[in-house]
Amino acid sequence: MALFLVLVVSLCISCCRVGGYVSDIIVHQVDNDFDCVDMYKQPTLQHPLLKNHKIQLNPTFTRNTVQRRSSSFINKVIGGCPIGKVPIYKKRVRHQNIINASSKLQTEDFHQDYEHYNSDHFATLDTTQSTTFHGASAIIGLYNLSLQGNQFSLSSIRIESGPPTEINIIQIGVGVHPKLYGDSQLRITALWTVDSYYKTRCYNYECQGFVQVNQNKSYTLGNVISPSNSIGSTEKYALGVKIKQDPSTGHWWLFLDRDEIQVGYWPKELFNHLSIGASLIRFGGETYAPPNIDNPSMGSGRLPQEGFKNSSFMGRLEIIDSKYSEISVNPEHMKKYSDANSNCYDLLYHGYEGVVYRQAFLYGGPGGLSGQCDI
Ligand SMILES: *[C@@H]1O[C@H](CO)[C@@H](O)[C@H](O)[C@H]1NC(C)=O
Ligand SMILES: *[C@@H]1O[C@H](CO)[C@@H](O)[C@H](O)[C@H]1NC(C)=O
Ligand SMILES: *[C@@H]1O[C@H](CO)[C@@H](O)[C@H](O)[C@H]1NC(C)=O
Ligand SMILES: *[C@@H]1O[C@H](CO)[C@@H](O)[C@H](O)[C@H]1NC(C)=O
Repeated sequence: MALFLVLVVSLCISCCRVGGYVSDIIVHQVDNDFDCVDMYKQPTLQHPLLKNHKIQLNPTFTRNTVQRRSSSFINKVIGGCPIGKVPIYKKRVRHQNIINASSKLQTEDFHQDYEHYNSDHFATLDTTQSTTFHGASAIIGLYNLSLQGNQFSLSSIRIESGPPTEINIIQIGVGVHPKLYGDSQLRITALWTVDSYYKTRCYNYECQGFVQVNQNKSYTLGNVISPSNSIGSTEKYALGVKIKQDPSTGHWWLFLDRDEIQVGYWPKELFNHLSIGASLIRFGGETYAPPNIDNPSMGSGRLPQEGFKNSSFMGRLEIIDSKYSEISVNPEHMKKYSDANSNCYDLLYHGYEGVVYRQAFLYGGPGGLSGQCDI
């Protein structure tokens, strides 16, 4: 994976101005928990809404040759699946139980955990304009976190559309989620729903939603991402993430990495509202802990007030507008949202931070004891 490596050249204590350059660092991290499956027989295609789905191998708007070269079928060497096959993450711990019971039961069990208590927290930067968006992109700082039990912590781009009880959402970014993955490693994590997460809460390849077309195992949802950043370091790694709706097919394409490698897409058929575009884009962090369990860390686990060397960041924030143009976010059309005590989580946004980060913010925090982050 070719992550962004960002070097801090000016210190940032309170003003949070950052500077530096981006150099080419190639990182190749492959978790072996994948199966290579026939692209045309991947589980997603069993979804009832996708009975007549024709796989789209490339987006119609592909911009450069890097993407073509990296796309499926052409890769034959190490790191890829054999021709015609795509890597799909093997389900682990959360699903081991499923083997013994009815899968439906177990899945609902998990959803109930989440719904009942709804004790999640957000620190995000949200769009405010009433318009149609066709995507967004950003680079996201990478930090290992040590989480346990039912806690999770995600840093993502989140696109939404629809009325309160049936909001369609796609989120893509990085996450630490022990219950889902069986460990506390930082992984590429995607999530979608068509009902505001009331009943459907579909990670990565769950619920048969995401169509994988890239055959390189580095670009599989659920893959471990490495290296990550150290607190206080002046060099920072970041993952480039982009989601863009195809103007011809309406599918939502996912691109990862500095070179915007096409990974796959969420078909338009899955959605009743997002099929025609998004009405809200949110960038930032989200954490969850069940009742009586402490709130976990977000971002790097440090508050934005500690500055760029310690706090996590998202930069190069862009939205894709109603005309499918990719443009930097306008600070006048963005607002901070936080539903937590600012000693637990916070977000600091001052707009433009120089040519490397462009529109960027610092976010995150240590979390806190159960109940103490609520406001
Ligand atoms: C898979 O991606 C990694 C990271 O970008 C790259 O180093 C490797 O060469 C790729 N493998 C194939 C088969 O293209
Ligand atoms: C599920 O079955 C496996 C294999 O038979 C077994 O090792 C495991 O303990 C069972 N798990 C539960 C929760 O019953
Ligand atoms: C983060 O976790 C990965 C995977 O476990 C590990 O390889 C890496 O060394 C860790 N990085 C840091 C900075 O702790
Ligand atoms: C950054 O973290 C280091 C190590 O924990 C700490 O000593 C330092 O005070 C922190 N910087 C700020 C500005 O809080």
